[in-house]
Amino acid sequence: MQIILFGGPGAGKGTQAQKISQFYKIPHISTGDMLRETTQEKSPLAHKIKEIMQQGELVSDDLLKEIVGVRLEKSDCRDGFILDGYPRTLRQAHDLEDILKKSQKKIDMVLYFKVHEEELIRRLSQRGRADDTLETIKNRLSVYVSTTRPVLDFYQEKGLLYTVQGVGEIETVFEKIKGVITGICALS
Ligand code: AP5
Repeated sequence: MQIILFGGPGAGKGTQAQKISQFYKIPHISTGDMLRETTQEKSPLAHKIKEIMQQGELVSDDLLKEIVGVRLEKSDCRDGFILDGYPRTLRQAHDLEDILKKSQKKIDMVLYFKVHEEELIRRLSQRGRADDTLETIKNRLSVYVSTTRPVLDFYQEKGLLYTVQGVGEIETVFEKIKGVITGICALS
């Protein structure tokens, strides 16, 4: 089962990805986490990535293609995976198609967590990650609207998009996700 989790910053992708991963026993692949790990290194590239993330801008599509391509080749992805935070641009959506074609895999579903902007800001302001300052949150939201949200149309046209109301108790949202996954699996 190959799943993409989609939604604005703070929509609950990471939270739900962990639960899905535990329940369905497939790896959670977060490009945000992988990039944050890279920023711990002492190199000009790590420094550059850190700067981009602190501003709430996007790291280059080419670098992401490389990182995701290598990760999806690992043996734990054989029976499926959950992508959290990728793809985030139309170019990345096409890159992912290329990556998956090589391993003869395909995306089964894109779960879009619908959460209104005030709630996203409220959640992130309370969390306190390095990129959760009000200025950076606003830029992340603006990048999401201008560059990432159009990727929804790409998956809508492929008939892979499923919307989940992302507001409410974490467990309740997870139950809704399981319902969607069960429905899709019953169809295939
Ligand atoms: P990334 O780490 O992917 O951040 P993001 O997409 O902005 O998402 P968040 O992790 O902030 O939110 P989330 O949706 O995972 O929600 P979460 O579960 O954490 O990316 C960070 C940066 O890396 C980007 O800005 C970019 O620079 C770079 N990057 C990453 N991927 C890239 C790519 N593909 N291309 C280019 N650059 C890339 O929840 C948030 C908070 O809400 C938590 O405190 C949580 O406890 C709480 N919460 C969750 N669910 C609920 C609920 N139902 N009710 C109340 N609170 C909840």
